[in-house]
Amino acid sequence: MRLLEISGVSAAYGDLKVLHDVSLHVDEGEIVSLVGSNGAGKTMLLRIISGLVPVTEGQITLGGKNLLKVRPYERVSVGLSHIPQGRGTLAKLTVKENLILGAYSLKSSQQREENIERAYGMFPKLRERKNQIAGSLSGGEQQMLAIARALMCDPKIIAMDEPSLGLAPIVVENVFEIIQRVSSERKIAILIVEQNLVQSLSIAHRGYVLENGRIVREGEAKALLEDKDIRSAYLGI
Ligand SMILES: Nc1ncnc2c1ncn2[C@@H]1O[C@H](COP(=O)(O)OP(=O)(O)OP(=O)(O)O)[C@@H](O)[C@H]1O
Ligand SMILES: [Mg+2]
Repeated sequence: MRLLEISGVSAAYGDLKVLHDVSLHVDEGEIVSLVGSNGAGKTMLLRIISGLVPVTEGQITLGGKNLLKVRPYERVSVGLSHIPQGRGTLAKLTVKENLILGAYSLKSSQQREENIERAYGMFPKLRERKNQIAGSLSGGEQQMLAIARALMCDPKIIAMDEPSLGLAPIVVENVFEIIQRVSSERKIAILIVEQNLVQSLSIAHRGYVLENGRIVREGEAKALLEDKDIRSAYLGI
């Protein structure tokens, strides 16, 4: 079942046209990776999905609903969670306070407590460190917290901007494993935006390549990973 559908989206920062006629979709429970080099427009696309940047053309639906008509702060309640580039956790608050903030859209405090318990169940390390200031967590732990926080509002889809940024290779591997586990255990769709083509396509079902604001390739993740042109353009091999 189609969950997120982006069709013919174009967008600009002032006079600078960044995205040109971008179309992509994510099905329920699917992991989709959007890869592309610096400045391709990946972050802009995620900001459009969250409502932080307007489109000049095109449509976006989530679960059949016109997302562009939903106010940015209400998009959480239609099932969208966004982890921004740089993770978006609040450095001066504790792990637990960050989790509580992630659940702000939930009406009942009982539901909030249950979701926090479930997050600790999934990430025991966060329980151990629940009173620690988030800014003093390691990079990998902060990404774990960002993911746990995104789960607090029971999303149907999480859009993640460069979860691997600034992490050591071994930690990157771990973060991608966590993303895969979250998606399969909780049946949540994930749209990952990444420069790390190999790791993100390795856990994805399908992928898209964005170049200078245009989708230039799309397909099964495995096929993209094995593609000669992509390997030589992005991996230099
Ligand atoms: N607030 C802004 N005002 C004007 N131009 C911007 C703004 N933010 C980004 N841009 C420009 O828009 C283009 C796309 O930026 P974007 O951040 O979406 O790229 P990206 O693919 O996420 O790159 P990276 O991999 O480095 O994060 C770039 O040319 C960038 O300089
Ligand atoms: Mg970016």
